[in-house]
Parts: sequence; structure tokens; C-alpha cells
Amino acid sequence: MSENIFYTKDAVTSFERQAEMGQYSCVFWFCGLSGSGKTTVAKACEKQLHAHGFKSYLLDGDNLRHGLNSDLGFSDADRRENIRRAAETASLMAKAGLIVLVSAITPTHELQELARKIVSSENEFILCHVSTPLEVCKDRDPKGLYKKALAGEIKYFTGIDAPFDAPISPEVVLDTSEKSVDSCADEVMAKILDLQLDAEDAAEKLCKISVEAGEAIMEVYGSDDFNIETKDDRTPVTAADKRSNAVIVSALNRLWPEISVLAEESEDDITRLRRRWCFVVDPLDGTKEFISRNGEFTVNIALVFDGNPVIGVIYVPVTGELYKGINWRGVRRAERSRLAVGTDSTSEPPREIKVSDRTDELVVMQSRSFGSDRLDALLEKNANRISKTISSGSSLKGCRIADGRADIYYRFGLTHEWDTAAMQCIIEAAGGVFRQMHGQKMTYNRPDTLNRDGFYILNREENILE
Ligand code: ADX
Repeated sequence: MSENIFYTKDAVTSFERQAEMGQYSCVFWFCGLSGSGKTTVAKACEKQLHAHGFKSYLLDGDNLRHGLNSDLGFSDADRRENIRRAAETASLMAKAGLIVLVSAITPTHELQELARKIVSSENEFILCHVSTPLEVCKDRDPKGLYKKALAGEIKYFTGIDAPFDAPISPEVVLDTSEKSVDSCADEVMAKILDLQLDAEDAAEKLCKISVEAGEAIMEVYGSDDFNIETKDDRTPVTAADKRSNAVIVSALNRLWPEISVLAEESEDDITRLRRRWCFVVDPLDGTKEFISRNGEFTVNIALVFDGNPVIGVIYVPVTGELYKGINWRGVRRAERSRLAVGTDSTSEPPREIKVSDRTDELVVMQSRSFGSDRLDALLEKNANRISKTISSGSSLKGCRIADGRADIYYRFGLTHEWDTAAMQCIIEAAGGVFRQMHGQKMTYNRPDTLNRDGFYILNREENILE
């Protein structure tokens, strides 16, 4: 790399672009012999992608050699540079939000790994070996190049007098001599669609899981013994936290085995840090409220992509209230519904919720169990803007702001990722503001799961307290 060059951060993140375009970008890399069908299959995929409404682009090896790579031949060094440029270009296009297909021979393990390394530093990389046998490619010889190579007119031709290494662990293998082009394209599409998130469907599933977890909690709530223990950080944990945790984690692992889970009562499997998708789970938020039996505790599940909560679900087992937020595919929507629970048979269907538009007479949420001198001072200073304060436990405070019943909440103390991820998603989906105390966006799936800087929630930007 050149000296004295500084990397400047993107003003619009790759996540924001993808959320806007409503697709999960990736690079699908076809390697294989000349004449194996890479370009033909890739073109059929592009047609299907286009028909599904996805934004894509095919970088074809031959075409690149007409422009970007027109100065390169077929020596080892040139082929390496050819693949490097193709991979860097594909990576940039994927960062811009596109689903990128690349078809290039990519003849050696070293080059296949080079492409993977360049692309996967910031994007999903899927290697597809188009494994059509050499004999078939030679017979097809669509460009007449094998004939020339065999006659010695082209030197260093892949498969004749230059090597081709079958990739060691390709994600997909397609042999176009055994399957039709369309069925090969279907396989690729299935893989690409697998990567896409159907947020509505996933959110529904998360709601169901949170209700099941709520039922497990209520069984303990109705018993005499909560089995209260004190954790290393001196916070309490009960049989209900553990049972809810087990219900949620096993359901998530079963439904989405490829997505990591960060859950309060599970060992932190830090492999999550290498993944773009992660569930962040608080199986029982408000354990203190649970112990004091005041009903103000919740189940929280968030799905995080590239650090941003894209789905958030909060369930209140005692009242049957269920909050759901989606911030994905250009959609920002929050809903509240109510299930019939226990002896209370009143239920309410889902209805969209929005933060209030109040700018004075503000209603402030306050924690039932955690306060601070800084908070008291801030509220005191802004007393003329505040009409009342309401105390509540757990992430319910955020839910009250999301559905317009309250307007602001400041939290100076420490919390963890699982205390805020689902709440943040619901607040943002309802049009509100959720920030760290110093004003930056809170991101998730971090190495250090403590939210060290505190946070605030506002119905409207201008209601920030000074
Ligand atoms: S790679 O080896 O550097 O990955 P790339 O996919 O860009 O190759 O280009 C391969 C195309 O160049 C082939 O489809 C063929 O049309 C053409 N070609 C010309 N000379 C050669 C050669 N010596 N070896 C392989 N392909 C060649």
C-alpha cells in the first residue's frame, strides 16, 4: 500500500444502502474452465435476480479484459492482477448494495483464496465451482480456443498447458454437462435467496418464540420458589431467566442455525464477532421487577445485521402486550398487539404505533430500580418542559415512548446490549431517536457487550435535554 494515504469512512454505510435497497448484497463467484458454462449460468441468474426485483451486476472475465483489465495477458502475474482487480471491483459494488456475480476462470487455489480474502473482508463471498469436465469443455469449444491451444497457437491455455485447481471448499458445485442451465441457475438463486431476510416472516417467528418464553416465565412466576441466585456482577438471576433463555436459544438455533446468538444467560460464543447477523436476547429484562412481582418485566429478542437492530420484539408476559419493530428493506414499522393471558381474555389485534409529536409538556420515563444524581439534575434543570414522570421497569420504558404514551427517557447507568437492542429497534421503527449519551448511534454485536456510555430515547430530535 502507498504511504501517506488515509482511509476515510463512508458517509452512508453499506448497511444503510442495503436496508434501503431491500437486499442483502453478496458476491457470487463462478470459477471453472473456459467453456464450462460460467457465463451462461451467471446470465441466467441475472435474469432471475432481475425478475425477483433484486439489483445485481455480472462482472464477466472476458468483458473485464476488454476494459479494466485490457492491459493484462495470461501469465501467472497477470492472471493474479486480473483476479485482484475483479475482486476489488466486486467488493466495491457489493458495498454499494448490489448482488454481484463474477465469472472468471480463477485457475488456482491461490487465486480462489485471494478473491475470497478481498471480498469477504467486507462482504459475503460465495464460491461456485462450475465443474463441467475438461473433455466436455473441449468438445463444446464455443470460441474455438481449445482447438487453437491444442494446435499450439495459444500458449498457456487453462486445462491444456496451464493448470486448473478444483477449489477445495466451494460453497456450490455445478456441472453443466449434467444439469440444465436453468436448474443450475435455480440452485444459485436458492443460495442467494437464503441469504436474504424475509423480515415479516422472521419477526412473526420471533414473536411466537417470545410468547413461548413468556409462558415459561409465568410458570415460575406462579410458583413459590424463584431459585434466586446472584451472578458475578452481583445482579440477580432466577429460574425464570434460565428457562426463558433455554426456550429462546433452542428455538433460534433450530430455526436459524447459521445466525449467532448473544443471550444474557448463555456463555458468549465470540464466533458471533465474525458474523454479520446476530440475535441479541434478554430472556427476562427486569429481573428485579419479576422478583418484586410487579409485572413490569419483558422478553426481548433483536436481530442485528452489521451492528444494527433490524427486528426487535418485546413481550410483556403479565399483560400479554407484544411490541414488534422492523427496520429493513426500506420499511420502518412498529406495531403493538395484546394477547389474552391468564384469566384476562381481552386481546387487541396488531396496530401500528408511532412516537408522539409533543415538544412541550413532555412525559418522562424513569427507571423503577435505577436512578442517578446526574439524571435528577438534568430533570431538575428542564423542569419547565416536563409535565410528568412515569416510573416503570425494564424495556417497557422504551415501549411506552414507541407507542406515544411517553416522550423521553435518559439512562446514565450501565446496561448491556441485550437490555437495549430490541427496544432501540422498536423506538427507531416507531420514528423515535435512540442514541448513546454522547450522541452517537448505538451498535450491537460488539466485543464488549456493556453499554458504557448510557443512552437516551426521544420522541423527537428537538426534545434533547441540555
Ligand atoms: S483468468 O485465468 O485470469 O481467471 P479470465 O476468466 O479472466 O481468466 O479469462 C479467460 C478467458 O480468456 C477465456 O474464457 C478465454 O475466452 C480467454 N483466453 C484467452 N487466452 C487464454 C488462456 N491462455 N487461458 C485461458 N483463457 C484464455
